[in-house]
Amino acid sequence: MSGEVQRHYDTHLAPIYVWMVGDVAAALQRSLDFFAAAGLKPGAGGVTVDLGCGFGLQAIPLAELGHEVVALDFSAELLAELRTRAGALPIRAIQDDLRNFPRHLTVPADVIVCMGDTLTHLPSLAAVNELLRLTAANLAPGGLLALTFRDHVGSELKGVQRFIPVRTDSDRILTCFLEYGDGVVDVHDLVHTRVPEGWRQSVSSYRKLRLEREGVAAELSLLGLQILRHDVEQGLVTLLARKSAA
Ligand SMILES: C[S@@+](CC[C@H](N)C(=O)[O-])C[C@H]1O[C@@H](n2cnc3c(N)ncnc32)[C@H](O)[C@@H]1O
Repeated sequence: MSGEVQRHYDTHLAPIYVWMVGDVAAALQRSLDFFAAAGLKPGAGGVTVDLGCGFGLQAIPLAELGHEVVALDFSAELLAELRTRAGALPIRAIQDDLRNFPRHLTVPADVIVCMGDTLTHLPSLAAVNELLRLTAANLAPGGLLALTFRDHVGSELKGVQRFIPVRTDSDRILTCFLEYGDGVVDVHDLVHTRVPEGWRQSVSSYRKLRLEREGVAAELSLLGLQILRHDVEQGLVTLLARKSAA
């Protein structure tokens, strides 16, 4: 499934990702507000890890707040966009599978974030649990983990609701269609692009996990992390957890 996800981003989503977000400044501000409210403070000499960083919707605000960010993604195109936008901010943008993040650390992390529904892109529940185990093992004492992902279980869409108009302007239309399966959801992204002859349609699909938010929270507790925040708002789950200071 990982190869399928990377292909989907490389050939279909990465080239239109910034356009898809729309008001990028507003999205960056929302992240900044989230991190400030969550008290994700940088430690002296420590690092913050951004897993599945995309073009930097989390990495850039974190760096602006003073974090030294190690940002991983497998999309070369999104990482190039991140480097351009980051300028002189302290962000190390690395092209690698996010599950390899410990290889890129020389000290335990003060903060690890995996946000914007990236967690559901992993190939299996076992892979998610292994990533959670790695995050707990690589956090410094007192370190914080922030996860946000779509609740594709409690917030399952029905019938025509599954056709989601993501963004439209005069030259492009992005519609997402969801097909639910057992523990997974197939995501079909339809892009219509205006061309001289009319409209060109391109379609690409990938599979996401339907993660049980209670299950993810329980796994974090089993790993010894203390849950500080656990809520779901408009179908987006937020989990904030802390490793004990001892
Ligand atoms: C939905 S996007 C979220 C990006 C960013 N966090 C945001 O909120 O805009 C998911 C990102 O994770 C990346 N990704 C998914 N699975 C990955 C993996 N196994 N290793 C590295 N990157 C991955 C994709 O390339 C994409 O940039």
